[in-house]
Amino acid sequence: MAECWLILLILQDEKYWPLMPPLPSYGYGREHIGPRYGSLIHGQNLRDVVITGHNGTINGQGQTWWKKYRQKLLNHTRGPLVQIMWSRDIVISNITLRDSPFWTLHPYDCKNVTIRNVTILAPVHDAPNTDGIDPDSCEDMLIEDCYISVGDDGIAIKSGWDQYGIAYRQPSKNIRIRNVVLQSMVSAGISIGSEMSGGVSGVTVENVVVWNSRRGVRIKTAPGRGGYVQDISYHNLTLDVVRVGIVIKTDYNEHPDEGYDPKAVPVLKDISFTSIHGQGVRVPVRMHGSEEIPVRNVTFRDMSVGITYKKKHIFQCAFVYGRVIGTIFPAPCDNLDRYDEQERLVKRSAAQNATDIDYDF
Ligand SMILES: *[C@@H]1O[C@H](CO)[C@@H](O)[C@H](O)[C@H]1NC(C)=O
Ligand SMILES: *[C@@H]1O[C@H](CO)[C@@H](O)[C@H](O)[C@H]1NC(C)=O
Ligand SMILES: *[C@@H]1O[C@H](CO)[C@@H](O)[C@H](O)[C@H]1NC(C)=O
Ligand SMILES: *[C@@H]1O[C@H](CO)[C@@H](O)[C@H](O)[C@H]1NC(C)=O
Ligand SMILES: *[C@@H]1O[C@H](CO)[C@@H](O)[C@H](O)[C@H]1NC(C)=O
Ligand SMILES: *[C@@H]1O[C@H](CO)[C@@H](O)[C@H](O)[C@H]1NC(C)=O
Ligand SMILES: *[C@@H]1O[C@H](CO)[C@@H](O)[C@H](O)[C@H]1NC(C)=O
Repeated sequence: MAECWLILLILQDEKYWPLMPPLPSYGYGREHIGPRYGSLIHGQNLRDVVITGHNGTINGQGQTWWKKYRQKLLNHTRGPLVQIMWSRDIVISNITLRDSPFWTLHPYDCKNVTIRNVTILAPVHDAPNTDGIDPDSCEDMLIEDCYISVGDDGIAIKSGWDQYGIAYRQPSKNIRIRNVVLQSMVSAGISIGSEMSGGVSGVTVENVVVWNSRRGVRIKTAPGRGGYVQDISYHNLTLDVVRVGIVIKTDYNEHPDEGYDPKAVPVLKDISFTSIHGQGVRVPVRMHGSEEIPVRNVTFRDMSVGITYKKKHIFQCAFVYGRVIGTIFPAPCDNLDRYDEQERLVKRSAAQNATDIDYDF
């Protein structure tokens, strides 16, 4: 089967690269004010699109872009390798995408998108912001049978940034991710946020392996984002040699400009983790809500993660409320209620407001 190399422009001449207006839900380009570079493959207002290729490769030749970005020689935000906007009924399958200048595959405000049997590769170090797939303000999306190993988040579900995302009001919802293997040595296998100002709900992650990574799955947000992350479930997640397994971070304070409203606090709730396994994990759980952004109704059911660091506080919670059911290893933090397999309350949380944090990591 022939590999097809699609290289459309000489990247050294980025002054000839098309510029696009900023995304409305971000206000600016993600890295610079004003317009942003376009993508190698860009589409908008489309219907019934298939991108496929007998596992042929689309190579973004990101090396020049990463180098210029690091040397601060770029005047505009880098473009994703593939960006599809305001479109529906999209299938992307049987293809390899590699070395994107920036995020690799960016469906923006789309409906009914299937990404199946796609391989996404970038160097795991020194390939800045090469996220694999960024579902952004998208509805009804399926990502399955993929392999992703990149220099930033493997998958990052988003929905706009602070006041711009709040005004655009387009959530990401009904997103299923299954049978996916991810590697992310600098960020996380699967993230939600940090740009989630239009809201994120109805995300199901099943049969996913994150290996040799810094973090397994992460939800990240901050005051100013507004929006919500709710109705999120993870089933059968395997963490194979990761530093921190499950992370919730509520102080990811990167803002587009000074115009954000610090009182716009996101809501985080109804998040469940079922059948979490793993080995070689340093900190299996680190969920840090805050007084302003508590994390409510979190459920852990059956978890067994082999740890590499036998200190206390390897299951960390702060401002997290919820329950544990079944066998949980390592021992859960005290501020979760304990239920038995029949879902009868066994033990009420000792101190609902207590924090159980160790900042040493
Ligand atoms: C994935 O793509 C490869 C290469 O095109 C193909 O051989 C394989 O059958 C596909 N697998 C699935 C599950 O579609
Ligand atoms: C697709 O190609 C990549 C390399 O370009 C390879 O690593 C991967 O195994 C291939 N996938 C399939 C399903 O053939
Ligand atoms: C960036 O802007 C500077 C100053 O305006 C200009 O000299 C330089 O050519 C620009 N670089 C690119 C790649 O457009
Ligand atoms: C979603 O897209 C697929 C592929 O284009 C199409 O076959 C299917 O009918 C669409 N589903 C809905 C509900 O529109
Ligand atoms: C992807 O490959 C599988 C297995 O060869 C095939 O069944 C499927 O139709 C292909 N998808 C597309 C969109 O060509
Ligand atoms: C859990 O996920 C793994 C890897 O994705 C898969 O091999 C296994 O069959 C799944 N287990 C169940 C019970 O579905
Ligand atoms: C807690 O979250 C679960 C989903 O994880 C949901 O089914 C349940 O209704 C929620 N409970 C409350 C009291 O909202």
